[in-house]
Amino acid sequence: LNYLMQVAIDGPASAGKSTVAKIIAHNLGYIYIDTGAMYRACTLIAHDNNVDYGDEKAILNLIDHSTIDFKQEDGEQKVYVNGKDVSIDIRTPEITENVSQVSALRSIREKMVELQREMAGKHDVIMDGRDIGTTVLPDAEVKIFLIASVASRAKRRFLDFQEKGIHQDLKDIEHDIEVRDYKDSHREISPLKKADDAIELDTTNLTIDEVVAKITEIIQKKQKN
Ligand code: CDP
Ligand code: CDP
Repeated sequence: LNYLMQVAIDGPASAGKSTVAKIIAHNLGYIYIDTGAMYRACTLIAHDNNVDYGDEKAILNLIDHSTIDFKQEDGEQKVYVNGKDVSIDIRTPEITENVSQVSALRSIREKMVELQREMAGKHDVIMDGRDIGTTVLPDAEVKIFLIASVASRAKRRFLDFQEKGIHQDLKDIEHDIEVRDYKDSHREISPLKKADDAIELDTTNLTIDEVVAKITEIIQKKQKN
C-alpha cells in the first residue's frame, strides 16, 4: 500500500508555522514545504525586474521564464531563482511588505498551487502557508491552524531578527504583521481562513517544544487509524 501522509499547517504571519513544521518534518522523515517562500520568490522576481507588484501578466511571464527550485541543505530549505540562492533575499522588508499584493494575483496562485500539489504527491509531506488546508491539500489527513496574539508574534519576529543581527523596530514589525494578515484574510482568492476540519492551536503561551509535541501527537493518532 502506497499511502502518503499530508499535514497542512496554516495561520497568520509569525505564528510559528515554519519553525515547528521543520522540526516535525525532521523528526518524522517528512518533506517540509514552505509555500510562503514560493510567493516571496515570485515577489523577488518582480522586484529584481522592476515590474509593478500588481502587474499580473508581466510577473507571470517572468515566472514562466525563471526556474524556482527548493533544495534541502543541512536541514534547511534553500530557495534558488535561476540557480542563485535567494533564501536571504526573499526575507528583506521590501519583499515582506509587498508579498501579499503578489500572492493575491490569481494566475500566480494557480501556478504555485499546481507546483505545491505536485511536490506533495511524491512523499509524506508537511506543508505550511495560508490556504493549504482549504485549497492546496483539502484532503490532508491532518490540518492545523496556528494562531497567537499579534504582540507575541511581533515579539518573536523581533527576537528572530535580533539573533540574525538585523535591527527592525518592534512597532514596524507589529504593523507589517497586522497589514499583511488583513490583506491575506481579505483577498478574493483562497484567503487565509481556518478549514472547517482544521484543529486550531493558540501558541501565544506555548513553547516551540510544546507546539511540536501537540502536533506530533495529532499526527501519530491519525497514523494509527
Ligand atoms: O513567514 P511569514 O509568516 O512572514 O510569511 P510567509 O509564510 O513567508 O508568507 C509570506 C506571504 O506569502 C504571506 O503573507 C501571504 O501573502 C503569502 N502566502 C500565501 O498567500 N499563501 C500561502 N500558502 C503562503 C503564503
Ligand atoms: O512560519 P511563521 O511565520 O508562522 O513563524 P516562524 O517563522 O516559524 O516563527 C516566528 C518566530 O517565533 C521564530 O523565531 C520562532 O522561533 C518563534 N516561536 C516561538 O517563540 N514560540 C513558538 N511557540 C513558535 C515560534
